[in-house]
Amino acid sequence: MIFEREVKIGKRLQQLQSLVTEPYDHIWDCCCDHGLLGAALLRQHPESHIHFVDVVPALIDALNERLSQHFADRTHRWQTLCMDAGALPLNDYPGKHLVIIAGVGGDLMMDMVARLQDANPEKELDFLLCPVHHQYALRTLLISRGFKLKEEVLVEENRRFYEIMLVTTHQNTHQPYADISPVGSRLWLTVDQVQPDNRKRYLTQTLAHYERIQRGKPDDVQPILHAYQQVNLS
Ligand SMILES: C[S@@+](CC[C@H](N)C(=O)[O-])C[C@H]1O[C@@H](n2cnc3c(N)ncnc32)[C@H](O)[C@@H]1O
Repeated sequence: MIFEREVKIGKRLQQLQSLVTEPYDHIWDCCCDHGLLGAALLRQHPESHIHFVDVVPALIDALNERLSQHFADRTHRWQTLCMDAGALPLNDYPGKHLVIIAGVGGDLMMDMVARLQDANPEKELDFLLCPVHHQYALRTLLISRGFKLKEEVLVEENRRFYEIMLVTTHQNTHQPYADISPVGSRLWLTVDQVQPDNRKRYLTQTLAHYERIQRGKPDDVQPILHAYQQVNLS
């Protein structure tokens, strides 16, 4: 059974889970699919209300059934929602929110983040993001919208690299958060004990990707390529 304790989530979801360290009243596992991350967070943070959100009705129906079996007790607070994650009803819930969006394209993620921020301009929102592709464009959008960086890490799973960013909509005046870099900053300092050369391989892959594009459309990617060429792995 998918939610039994012994089921181990993959490295990418584990890393996302490990970045949830602050107390949140509400955690939104958006684009949750089978709800593995949200279920892990439900166990780890019984004080938080976990909202499982996906746009596919059959997924949400099945998830609702499994959650009802495994988390029927009153100590765990959760709900499932079949809806577009870009339209979350955040205003219906007072308190501190974390919105997790992982495993979807960076372009879709940009659209969701922008709509959620536009609909809740006064609300301080944390976003935990793990896009598939379009990392540079997503980072550029976050910068243009005034987001700040709380943490970022690189993770490799099944020979694919993922950037994970924990960002926030409002600056902290007492202990200011760092600016977001369009190519990543702390990301390149993350030391992976198992594969210490992973940062170098990710950078090599990323440079090769933009060099390939540059052969077709040089003007579009020259600034991006240049920015990645400045990354210092020391
Ligand atoms: C590959 S799964 C990601 C699962 C999990 N978050 C992860 O990172 O492993 C992508 C999910 O996003 C959902 N999805 C796509 N567009 C969505 C939207 N606009 N709102 C909510 N869910 C969406 C899909 O139905 C699918 O279940």
